[in-house]
Amino acid sequence: MENTRRKFLNSISMLAATTLFPLNSFAFNSNKKLRICLIGTGVRGTSFWGKRLVDEYNEILEFVGLCDINPGRLVYGKKYIGANCDTYDDCDQMLQDTKPDLLIVTTVDATHHEYIIKGLKFGCDVLTEKPLTTDETKAQAILDAEQESEKKLIVGFNYRWSPYSTKIKELLMNNTIGKITSVDFHWYLNTYHGASYFRRWHGYKDKGGTLLVHKSTHHFDLLNWWLDSDPSEVFAYGSLEHYGKNGPFRGENCRNCEHKNNCAFHYNITKSKRDVDLYVSNENYDGYMRDSCLFREDIDIYDKMSTQIKYANNVTVNYSLTTYSPFEGWRIAFNGTEGRIEASLDIPYHNEIKVEQAEMHSKEMEQKAMDDLKIENIIVHKNWNDFETIAVPTERNGHGGGDKRLHDKIFISPNIDDPFERSAGIRDGVMSVLIGIGARNSIESGKPVKIADLTELKPMANRIKSS
Ligand SMILES: NC(=O)c1ccc[n+]([C@@H]2O[C@H](COP(=O)([O-])OP(=O)(O)OC[C@H]3O[C@@H](n4cnc5c(N)ncnc54)[C@H](O)[C@@H]3O)[C@@H](O)[C@H]2O)c1
Repeated sequence: MENTRRKFLNSISMLAATTLFPLNSFAFNSNKKLRICLIGTGVRGTSFWGKRLVDEYNEILEFVGLCDINPGRLVYGKKYIGANCDTYDDCDQMLQDTKPDLLIVTTVDATHHEYIIKGLKFGCDVLTEKPLTTDETKAQAILDAEQESEKKLIVGFNYRWSPYSTKIKELLMNNTIGKITSVDFHWYLNTYHGASYFRRWHGYKDKGGTLLVHKSTHHFDLLNWWLDSDPSEVFAYGSLEHYGKNGPFRGENCRNCEHKNNCAFHYNITKSKRDVDLYVSNENYDGYMRDSCLFREDIDIYDKMSTQIKYANNVTVNYSLTTYSPFEGWRIAFNGTEGRIEASLDIPYHNEIKVEQAEMHSKEMEQKAMDDLKIENIIVHKNWNDFETIAVPTERNGHGGGDKRLHDKIFISPNIDDPFERSAGIRDGVMSVLIGIGARNSIESGKPVKIADLTELKPMANRIKSS
């Protein structure tokens, strides 16, 4: 146990090195488990940052407090996680009573800053889910709080850790196609997963900051990491043309909708016991309905987004996000001075997809220990040569295998050097949300936005390394 615990402490310090300062709150006495508090006992908090930690790392950590504004979800969450600790409706009280080493933040995106800052001011380290936050003022407040605190902030970016994303990084690090000059990157959310964002809080700018922040933070972080440079300017178009007020009819939620028989988006939440226990059974406390109508008239995010990003090293990126595609997948192409790399996942015209479209997202969120390996290709096409196909063994569970690798890096093999520099810290968290925030500001103003005008962070041609 002592060995595992020491490795864990080192791993936290390594993650903290992403901020260029060592974490020190983990230098507690030996034979003491890491004391964790978690705020936000929703699906992500109870599964990935809850039950999976208890199941896999019980020997070295313990939950000492759980907090949520919904008392019913809190009771259910504690049971689902398998934690033996007190529950709270007030974060300050929880911190005072339990004095944790680490606060994990898995609440609604627009509230992350509040708890990150509380944790840092209280004097514990903080690990937050993506996106770091939803606007530039909150981003600056987090940067200030982190500077004033001796404690550190970790951002849980899991996509970097999937074997497929890592292989792309390796090819780029090896200068396989010379200097990268431009990138085409397109992400397609299907009519199940894409639609799901419009059923709940993600449908409001003031909760998730639009999908350019909530969802694209993953994609922008991948770009920043792959290109190894900071974004310097962004210009975007976006509109809401399909969901929200554009729907032909609407109801309160799918369960009691009079249009359920003729709505292609009808979603029967009662088929999932987990969703009923987590959400439906606790609606009476806060009115949060997981199956709200996606044609609600007050939805104010975009369902079609197109963004141009200029990097400090002069690479230009064309990025788009679609939310009502017949399939869930993505494609990217890097143009370099010596050729081109093309990569894509789950394009049904390239490979037979064995998973139903309706199941694609739940498979991605699943945290099963074992998953079927499948082979996905990356094309490397050097100028004046025939193309080469690189076969990459990949998984589908837990965000392409990224989830468990992120945990394992923190908890199991922290001392192994990571040649791909996958650990992410505060600068990575801020830079990825600033592209989405800048894109949103650009859509609203019709003008390009300079990243340097949003916070005190100045874009660097060579990204400051995370570890
Ligand atoms: N990295 C990933 O791949 C990934 C995947 C899913 C979700 N997430 C992130 O995890 C976070 C939670 O998402 P989710 O899907 O679990 O949402 P959810 O709606 O299931 O859960 C959110 C929880 O936060 C609680 N909450 C809301 N406002 C609060 C407040 N002010 N104080 C305390 N509790 C509050 C809600 O009651 C709810 O229990 C989000 O930030 C999301 O972006 C990340």
